[in-house]
Amino acid sequence: MNTDTIVQRILDGCENSGASVSKIYLADLEIQPCRACKTQDGSGCVFLDGMEQIYEVYEKADGLVLGTPVYYNTVSSQMKLMIDRSYCLARPVILPSGKRSYESAVVKKKKGMVVSVGGSGSNPECVLPVFDIWSTEVNLDIVDSILATRTQLSEEPMECTELLEQAFSKGKKFTHLFCQ
Ligand SMILES: Cc1cc2nc3c(=O)[nH]c(=O)nc-3n(C[C@H](O)[C@H](O)[C@H](O)COP(=O)(O)O)c2cc1C
Repeated sequence: MNTDTIVQRILDGCENSGASVSKIYLADLEIQPCRACKTQDGSGCVFLDGMEQIYEVYEKADGLVLGTPVYYNTVSSQMKLMIDRSYCLARPVILPSGKRSYESAVVKKKKGMVVSVGGSGSNPECVLPVFDIWSTEVNLDIVDSILATRTQLSEEPMECTELLEQAFSKGKKFTHLFCQ
């Protein structure tokens, strides 16, 4: 709820700067868990489900604002489903040294922002390593974040003017990265 309020304010800032915005709630999509059915070859997933919409977003969006509450020191289950189902988008490449590495099969380069709200824990940044490792699979460069805790916020973000103003201006700044 708090996460969504902050994400919405960032999106308001993006729209205010001329971006065309759409918001997807992962919980509204039917996304199967990854079954690790094949090795990483960049050819995509065998399931046809809600992830098809997300794979399209990976190839079309200039920027992604990724919101998740902190659940057990990591991202929500919905976000984790999306992240795991991106594993198939990495494909192997042989480096000049002869060593094997992986690159993203997603052509479109994107910028990302992470929003995460935790409760009584003091480490909403705990979600960042998960996004970091996933971002290379989907050709995403994470450039900014808003990480907050409920205890740190004296009021809910809904009324926390300072945080919401920060979110709005971060949305504007984020948009300027790709809408020059
Ligand atoms: C299943 C579950 C696990 C949670 N785990 C943590 C946690 O590890 N650390 C933390 O600070 N808060 C934890 N919380 C509290 C939420 O992060 C907190 O309620 C936060 O405000 C949720 O974001 P929201 O306000 O956008 O819903 C947990 C809440 C739930 C329901």
